[in-house]
Amino acid sequence: MSKRTGRLIALGVALAVLAPLGYLWATSLVPNDYSAAEMGYADYGGGPDSGGHAHKGGGHAHHGGTSVADLTGPRTGTPDVDVTLTARKATYQLASGETVDGYTLNGTSPGPLIRAQVGDLVQVTLVNDNVPDGATLHWHGIDVPNAEDGVAGVTQDAVPIGGTHVYRFLADQAGTYWYHSHQVSSELVKGGLFGTIVIGPQTPGEVIAAIHTYDGKRTINGRTGTQQVDLPAGTTARVRVINTDNAILRVGLIGTQSRVVAVDGRNVNNPTPVTAAFPLAAGARVDLEAVVPPGGMRLVAGSAALSLGIGSGSAPSGELPAETVDLLTYGAAAPLGFDPAAADRNFEYRIGRRPGFLDGRPGLWWTINGKKFPDVPMYMVAEGDVVRMTISNTSGQAHPMHLHGHHAVVLSRNGVAASGSPWWVDTLEVGNDETYEIAFVADNPGLWMDHCHNLPHATEGLMTHLMYVGVTTPYRIGGPAGNEPE
Ligand code: C2O
Ligand code: CU
Repeated sequence: MSKRTGRLIALGVALAVLAPLGYLWATSLVPNDYSAAEMGYADYGGGPDSGGHAHKGGGHAHHGGTSVADLTGPRTGTPDVDVTLTARKATYQLASGETVDGYTLNGTSPGPLIRAQVGDLVQVTLVNDNVPDGATLHWHGIDVPNAEDGVAGVTQDAVPIGGTHVYRFLADQAGTYWYHSHQVSSELVKGGLFGTIVIGPQTPGEVIAAIHTYDGKRTINGRTGTQQVDLPAGTTARVRVINTDNAILRVGLIGTQSRVVAVDGRNVNNPTPVTAAFPLAAGARVDLEAVVPPGGMRLVAGSAALSLGIGSGSAPSGELPAETVDLLTYGAAAPLGFDPAAADRNFEYRIGRRPGFLDGRPGLWWTINGKKFPDVPMYMVAEGDVVRMTISNTSGQAHPMHLHGHHAVVLSRNGVAASGSPWWVDTLEVGNDETYEIAFVADNPGLWMDHCHNLPHATEGLMTHLMYVGVTTPYRIGGPAGNEPE
């Protein structure tokens, strides 16, 4: 074999290896500027592809119908709650004194508590003082009209330095919620660009506990270690616990029995007293109610090292019990208000993982129905549809799945039907090798994110949308505004 032939063979072998890799690399590139409405492929879940409600069958597709930008909250009327939040990139002190490089709202992290009563018109003006990436505010768990949802590149442009954005919505469901940037959320939320929002009356026994990890320091309301809230014995305490981190955390009250009275801003029907801990998914909230005993009680977040004594004087100390509340059977069944058996759409959201390229980067990436971002299914619905979705996970890790704009009810887990209180969620922990069936009514038109709230996972492709037929968005991911929702 001549030297030349040898070189040609070597070249041929190299090409045989590199060309497919190059192809995979090139086809994985995500455009610098694209519309979330044109992402991936439409999955109609067995329903029609027209704008009409599935029950009415057929009909003509009317595309180019409603713009996300027009799906606003009330544009007129004097707000009952009127708050301005100024976002800053800053080096700041936690309430317990540690220094953090991150982000604040009105100089603190967590940002200010926003309190509204049911029926209030809420107006929040976001001002970006100096956050280089830009910022938005998403109302996690509040099913606001789509234009108020705060997702950069989907429902608005990221607010640049010097810019402002006004959010207006009716507070129509009492509950515990939080807000956070949905521009570069994986970085900005971790750095502190979030706060709490509670809808409903402030009772004398209200305790709010937002759990967040700053630079590896886990905190409750921005304080590391143990702390104390004074409440007289006999007070009915309602402890609103919010997990703003990326991983599930067991929380609970020790020193007494408590009742799980609400989950993700929805009341639990007939909650029984428990001592078991509650598994609080990333992004999720739980309201625990208990009468403060004479010796006090203590909220434990993960371990006794991070806890909040509640009562007068010293509260008991100790770790959480090993038992865990299971919402599949907790509380008592009650009517759902719709019939999941009469579903208009049936979707599958199968979470997997495989090696390959994502936007040109080699790695091990999440997949949805076997597809890698951005070639993922777009779940298409029409207003009024009853929607069922089966979420399964064989990816090797757990994922707290968050659907914007809607609350869904859990029908079953691993084939076992839910038998307790209706289990309404906006954020559902789907463990590895678990399968959940959920259902909801498509009653909030728009283009809604449906993603993992372990936020780095969303940047790794575990992100898609629920889309109402006929809705369009003028906003672009990337583009001049630099929109980067994850
Ligand atoms: Cu709390 Cu899409 O987010
Ligand atoms: Cu995940």
